[in-house]
Amino acid sequence: IASDMKGLKSGKLRLAVVTTAKYFVPRLLGMFCQKYPGIDVALKVTNREHILERLTGNQDDLYILGQIPDAVDAVAEIFLDNQLVVLASADHPLATEKKIPIKRICDEPFIMREPGSGTRIATELFFSKHNKKLKVRMELGSNEAIKQTVAGRLGIAVLSRHTLALDAQIGQLAILDVEGFPIERHWYFAYSSGKQLSIVAQTFLSYLRQANNLLDNMTCRHMTSGHCPLLENE
Ligand code: PGA
Repeated sequence: IASDMKGLKSGKLRLAVVTTAKYFVPRLLGMFCQKYPGIDVALKVTNREHILERLTGNQDDLYILGQIPDAVDAVAEIFLDNQLVVLASADHPLATEKKIPIKRICDEPFIMREPGSGTRIATELFFSKHNKKLKVRMELGSNEAIKQTVAGRLGIAVLSRHTLALDAQIGQLAILDVEGFPIERHWYFAYSSGKQLSIVAQTFLSYLRQANNLLDNMTCRHMTSGHCPLLENE
């Protein structure tokens, strides 16, 4: 009913999300808080390893992350796609090539996320499944720093498509057309099995279930290969 939507729902929502989710979660929260002005949100952003620790310790109401290991006792549901793509500087010689073989990527200096990152785990798994080894030139603990480094021509990287935005004018990055890419992952929302969800958390969960429609116009997800704009700084 209308009165319910206008703010009878009030309280605090404690949310913790992996770093890549910060590219879409704040926008989802913006719409959510407009709809429910009585709800206050605390948002924690950290990498997968730390999110799993917080989830195990039941420290927050809800979590957003990639697939959850069986050993973690949690309720989880998929709510959005997460494609990992290969990024290079826009003027990289491979930017115009089609169907680049995986082994060609392994000749390029590679910029890798830090240990504990879900993006890193998925990337390493992909290359080891194909019996290939990356030439890691640098390790960086931030998607933004990696994009800047790639734009600065220090190497190529694998990052979530969510880290790219549609709206900037000048494309400094290209998505490479590499065999086997994008790596198809998903975002899950999750909470500890022992958790009694508050009304506020339940309201946010129902809202997340429509996230696909809400986010349709917000991400670079329909881009295949080619130039992509660099997103705003952290
Ligand atoms: P990350 O999370 O920030 O730990 O890389 C992304 C993911 O798990 O896909």
